[in-house]
Order: sequence, then structure tokens, then C-alpha cells
Amino acid sequence: MDNNLSFDQTSLSRRQLLNFLTGSTVAVVAGSALYPAAKFFTPPKETGEGGAILAKDKLGNPIPASQILENPPETRALVAGLAGEPTYLIVTDANTLDGRGIVDNCTHLGCTFPWNETAEQFQCPCHGSRYDAEGSVVRGPANRPLKLVHVAVIDDAIWLSPWTETDPRTGERPWWV
Ligand code: FES
Repeated sequence: MDNNLSFDQTSLSRRQLLNFLTGSTVAVVAGSALYPAAKFFTPPKETGEGGAILAKDKLGNPIPASQILENPPETRALVAGLAGEPTYLIVTDANTLDGRGIVDNCTHLGCTFPWNETAEQFQCPCHGSRYDAEGSVVRGPANRPLKLVHVAVIDDAIWLSPWTETDPRTGERPWWV
């Protein structure tokens, strides 16, 4: 009787082992086949370390850097940035994105403004403030430089993160921190 019990237990264990191995194989094969499809349908992660977010277009879709660099609008490209603030990206002479982005929000009373490629200035239409290519005030009534954000391109994704260090244009603590 003990022998029978032992035989049954052995059979059960073998059956369980076979089931486990078969199940594992099926899971691995199915997983390998489905991974590319799952990756395709899974939206990219949109937030990163240090409050970073992906730059987006006006429809709210992440913009790949290549989309801007393959057909640059001028030397400034407008994207939706941190907290949805419109932000200018700077296309460099080497056809890369500069590490600084400039927030499209006039420091006088908050109007948005276009980039004037000919004058190489941001020119606010509301009360005439002008800023140079770096976002420093050239003409008032605005009296503070435009807000900066960090720009980083990783695997063609454009990440924007808050600028909290010294403002390189003034050598001082940023007014927005
Ligand atoms: Fe831009 Fe007044 S809001 S100059």
C-alpha cells in the first residue's frame, strides 16, 4: 500500500513538472511574440526624473526630435512644455536641439510672442517688449529675462525639465525659482 501511494505521488509530481514546463514554454513563446505588439501599443512614459516631461505638439502628442530637425521651422520650434506652457526649442547650427528652452510667456504681462528670424528677437505684440535670441530683455516694458527650461534628447524623445540653477544670462538665481 505504501508502494502504491509512493508510485501515485511520483506520478503526480512528474505530471506537475511536465505541466509546469509546458506552461512555461508556452508563456515564453507567447510573451516573445506579443512583446513587440505590446510595446507598439503602450504609449511612451511621459514623465521622468526631476519633474521632466516629454515635449508635445498642439494635439498633445509627444514630438520626436527628428521631426523637428529633419524639417526645422526656422531656428526656433514651439512645443507644449512644462505645465503646458508653450516653449521655444532652439535648433543649433549643428542641427541639434540646444540644452536650453525658452518659455513663450512675456515677463511683462504674460502675452505669448513670435520669434522674428530676421531680427533674431522674440517680439511681444502686446506692449512692444523685445528679447534677444537668449531671452534677455532688449527693450521694455518687460524687465526680466524669459524663463528657461532644460532640454534633453534621449532616444529621439525630447525631455523638458525645470531650470532651477543659476541663470547663465544674469549670473544670478532665476527669478522664477
Ligand atoms: Fe509683453 Fe506687455 S505683455 S510687452
